[in-house]
Amino acid sequence: MTRQKQSDGAARARVIAFANQKGGVAKSTTAEAFAASLTARGYAVLMVDMDAQPGNLSMHVGADKDLPGTLELLEHRRPMREKVLRCIQPTRSFGDVICANEDLDDADKSLSSRVGRELMLSRALEPVLGDYDFVVVDTPPALQLRTLNGIAAADDVVVPCMADASSVAGMEAVLECVAEVREFVRGAQPRVAGIVVTRYDARNNLEPEMLDRIAEIAAEHGAVLLGRGVRNTVNARKAQRSGEALRRFAPQSTAALDYEEAVSAYLADIGITDD
Ligand SMILES: Nc1ncnc2c1ncn2[C@@H]1O[C@H](COP(=O)(O)OP(=O)(O)OP(=O)(O)O)[C@@H](O)[C@H]1O
Ligand SMILES: [Mg+2]
Repeated sequence: MTRQKQSDGAARARVIAFANQKGGVAKSTTAEAFAASLTARGYAVLMVDMDAQPGNLSMHVGADKDLPGTLELLEHRRPMREKVLRCIQPTRSFGDVICANEDLDDADKSLSSRVGRELMLSRALEPVLGDYDFVVVDTPPALQLRTLNGIAAADDVVVPCMADASSVAGMEAVLECVAEVREFVRGAQPRVAGIVVTRYDARNNLEPEMLDRIAEIAAEHGAVLLGRGVRNTVNARKAQRSGEALRRFAPQSTAALDYEEAVSAYLADIGITDD
């Protein structure tokens, strides 16, 4: 573990899953920003990458993909602490990570025939939940089994969403999926913590209108917008290319400030206010 956890020794980490059915809406960027910000605020954070695509969170945070990762984590039917610990590696500024192995996609077939298949991640994380304050789970852009595992393992689901119609459709699919997991997956009680509007461009006339629509849909599902939207800036891409957290690469950039606001809103929502 990179950091000493802040919460009471016996407390279990809060698991936050980042999901949207649509690709490219800044799920990984948002998960990374949350992990880096929570780490900088002194929390012990573990990231879990459920997406094997090139350009995933593991790549951005500089994880070594040759080390054991999510695949080894999910493979054990009865996860033991030492085996889970072997899958965890430290990063420079994002906390610890369980990286997504390149052959994770190939494992879907065998994982999908497992009994209790929606709860593989939840069970696997159990032995280390006491070591962390937060576990940040990044998911692939589809409501497939690994995404369902992320949602079923979560206390809080955060939906990154761009202000366009197809991202909003992807957001609605996740909101419905969370409700279904609550109803049908025994023992899973995820709730939607909020929506983060991403890659926001207020100069594009359609986006402010869409932002209002996102707030309406969120409210219909009892969810809120976390912050006022993360503005589009080339620094977000540059930071990922350099393997550095945006908040360190360009601390005064619009997106870095906007993500801090979103994280503060999330913490306030779970009853933690800034000093
Ligand atoms: N605020 C921002 N400003 C500019 N570019 C951004 C911003 N946030 C994210 N991006 C860029 O958008 C692209 C997609 O982001 P990201 O990989 O986080 O999306 P994703 O939803 O995880 O994608 P996928 O569905 O493929 O997993 C990346 O190139 C990223 O650098
Ligand atoms: Mg991603």
